[in-house]
Amino acid sequence: MTQPPDSGPSAAAAGTWTLGDLVVNRLGFGAMRLTQVGNAFGADAIPSDRSQAIAVLRRAVELGVNHIDTAAFYFSALRSANELINTALAPYPDDLVIVTKVGPGRDIYGEWVDRARPDQLRGQVEENLRQLGRDHLDVVNYRRQASVGEITDHVGALAELRDAGLIRHIGISGVEPEHLSQALAVTPVVCVQNAYSIDDQRPESAAVLRRCGEQGIAFVPFFAIAGAGRHRGPAVSQGGAPPERGSLAEAVAAIAGTHGATPAQIRLAWTLHQGPHVLAIPGTGSPGHLAENVAAGAIRLSAPELASLGQSVA
Ligand SMILES: NC(=O)c1ccc[n+]([C@@H]2O[C@H](COP(=O)([O-])OP(=O)(O)OC[C@H]3O[C@@H](n4cnc5c(N)ncnc54)[C@H](OP(=O)(O)O)[C@@H]3O)[C@@H](O)[C@H]2O)c1
Repeated sequence: MTQPPDSGPSAAAAGTWTLGDLVVNRLGFGAMRLTQVGNAFGADAIPSDRSQAIAVLRRAVELGVNHIDTAAFYFSALRSANELINTALAPYPDDLVIVTKVGPGRDIYGEWVDRARPDQLRGQVEENLRQLGRDHLDVVNYRRQASVGEITDHVGALAELRDAGLIRHIGISGVEPEHLSQALAVTPVVCVQNAYSIDDQRPESAAVLRRCGEQGIAFVPFFAIAGAGRHRGPAVSQGGAPPERGSLAEAVAAIAGTHGATPAQIRLAWTLHQGPHVLAIPGTGSPGHLAENVAAGAIRLSAPELASLGQSVA
C-alpha cells in the first residue's frame, strides 16, 4: 500500500470505493491536463513542462492518490499522458489503479479520427498497454461518442478482451441511462464517467448517477472544477461560474470563505457529497492545485450549504 506522507493532505480523507475488486481512494487524479498548458488539444497546444508533469504525478501518489484516469488520446505534440505516467510511476505501486478509455482516437498529428468500430478497440487497448508498460489494464471505459446510439457491440468487444486477460474491469463514459442498460446486459460495469458538476447537473447524468448508486457502480464525473465552461478553463479562475449562474458562484465563494478553502475545493467537495459511490478525478498540471484538490477530500459540507449549491442526491 502507498503510505500517506508525513505531512500534507491525504487522498484517503474522502474514504474509499471498490472498483470491481480494486480499492481506490475517492479523491483521484485526471491526467488529461498534464500534456499541455491550457485546455485545448491540437497542433496549437503548448506542451507542458515535462519535469513538472512528472513531479505532479509522483506527488499525487505520495499524497495517497491511487486512482488515475488517462487515455492514449491524451497527448500534445511533445507529451503523452500515458508515457508521463509510465515514466513517473513505473514500477507501479501495487494499489495504483489506472483507468483508461477507448472509443475516440487521434492520428499522430493530433487530428480526431472516425470513431472506432468494435473490432478496432483491441488496437486501442494494445496501444494503452504499450504506452503504460503493463500486461493488462485495470479498468477500461468505452467512451461513447454522440453518434453511437447503441453501445452493446462496443462493450461486448471489451468483454471479450477482459475474458482474454487484457482488461480487468469495464466502465463506460458519455452515456445516458439506456446505454448503461445496454452495457449491463452484456457485462458487469464498475464505473461510469460523465460530465457533471455544480453548474452542470444535466438530468440524464443525474439519472445515471442515481442508478449507479443503486447498483453499486462508481459514478466518476469529469469537469467537476471546469464545470459548464469545460474546455474554456476552470469556472473558478475566470471570475466564477457562467453569468447565468452568478448567484451560484457567489454561494460557492461564500462557502469557500467559511471553510478557508478555494472555490475549486468547494466544487470538489460538492462532487464527493453526491454519494459514497461518486469519485473525483480533478485534472491539473500544477503542484499547488494538486495539493488543494487532495485537501478538498477532507472538507465536509453541511446540509444547508449543500442546499445552497443545488439539490444533493446523496
Ligand atoms: N470520459 C471522458 O470523456 C472525459 C472527458 C474529459 C475529461 N476526462 C477526465 O476527467 C479529468 C478531469 O477533467 P478536466 O481535467 O478536464 O477538468 P477539471 O478537473 O474539472 O478542471 C481542470 C481545470 O481546472 C484547473 N484546476 C485544477 N485544480 C484547480 C484548483 N485547485 N484551483 C483552480 N483551478 C484548478 C486546471 O488548470 P491547472 O492545470 O492550471 O490546475 C484545469 O484548467 C480529466 O483530467 C480526464 O482525466 C474524461
